[in-house]
Amino acid sequence: MNLKIPIVAVLLLLVWEKTVGQERLSQINSWTWTWAANDYQILQRVAMLEARQTLLEGTVAEQKAEITNLSKRIEDMKQRTWGSWGEWGQCDFSCNRSVTEGARVQTRFRNMTAGSVVLQTETDQRPCNAVQFAGCDKSSSADDKYATAFSFTDEIAQATCTAIRSEGGYVKAVRRTCSNQTVSCEDLCKSVSATCFNALHVYQPDNVLGNAETGRAGLKTYRYNSCLGSFCGPNFCCCDGK
Ligand SMILES: *[C@@H]1O[C@H](CO)[C@@H](O)[C@H](O)[C@H]1NC(C)=O
Ligand SMILES: *[C@@H]1O[C@H](CO)[C@@H](O)[C@H](O)[C@H]1NC(C)=O
Ligand SMILES: *[C@@H]1O[C@H](CO)[C@@H](O)[C@H](O)[C@H]1NC(C)=O
Ligand SMILES: *[C@@H]1O[C@H](CO)[C@@H](O)[C@H](O)[C@H]1NC(C)=O
Repeated sequence: MNLKIPIVAVLLLLVWEKTVGQERLSQINSWTWTWAANDYQILQRVAMLEARQTLLEGTVAEQKAEITNLSKRIEDMKQRTWGSWGEWGQCDFSCNRSVTEGARVQTRFRNMTAGSVVLQTETDQRPCNAVQFAGCDKSSSADDKYATAFSFTDEIAQATCTAIRSEGGYVKAVRRTCSNQTVSCEDLCKSVSATCFNALHVYQPDNVLGNAETGRAGLKTYRYNSCLGSFCGPNFCCCDGK
């Protein structure tokens, strides 16, 4: 049997007899009171620690929420992508408006998305080109500096006919409907009191080239060196005479 416990018990009894056992009642009361005061301080400290812990728990919860939020934003950022540009808008212009008024500019858009949410939209603009001016064939007033945009095929035909006429004099490039139902350039020039000296087909562009694009043909013309074709065929007749 273990003798340690009885020995300790006897020692404790001896100590008690020497101290508390011989105290007077008032002293014992004060001794009890001291311990009660210590209890109160401990309780106070526990309460304080508990309060602090609640506070810290709140802070931790808030911080966790923020971390979740920020992590989500990081995920979003990773997924953020610019979409491809949309189609260019209509080349919306009137012949009497200047570029600063929004005339002859076309616009396109692209979206930045995260998932399927559109975060940002970017706008891109460019001036409309001569091909798109086709049809704006008259100026609205004498001081209209910008609007005189003939069909670009008229301008090509007029310049070509002028250049290939060896003699001096007036040259008119006259539009011809490209069809076997239409009279030949010989007859068409006669109908405007002039004489045919050549015929052309000025094509609509096969390729609309980008601003800085090189190495690819955009425009094309065919030169007939004849005024007789009554087919499709010539779409411009080179006529001389007023
Ligand atoms: C988390 O984000 C939501 C909406 O995105 C917001 O309402 C909330 O306040 C944010 N929470 C924190 C802790 O930032
Ligand atoms: C951009 O987003 C808007 C609205 O969500 C949509 O209507 C439009 O078609 C998008 N544009 C492009 C080029 O994706
Ligand atoms: C400009 O043209 C538009 C139509 O294209 C017309 O409605 C407007 O009256 C014109 N303005 C002037 C000042 O000529
Ligand atoms: C005119 O052209 C059409 C189509 O290109 C063809 O079908 C028709 O036979 C032609 N007519 C003549 C008289 O050449």
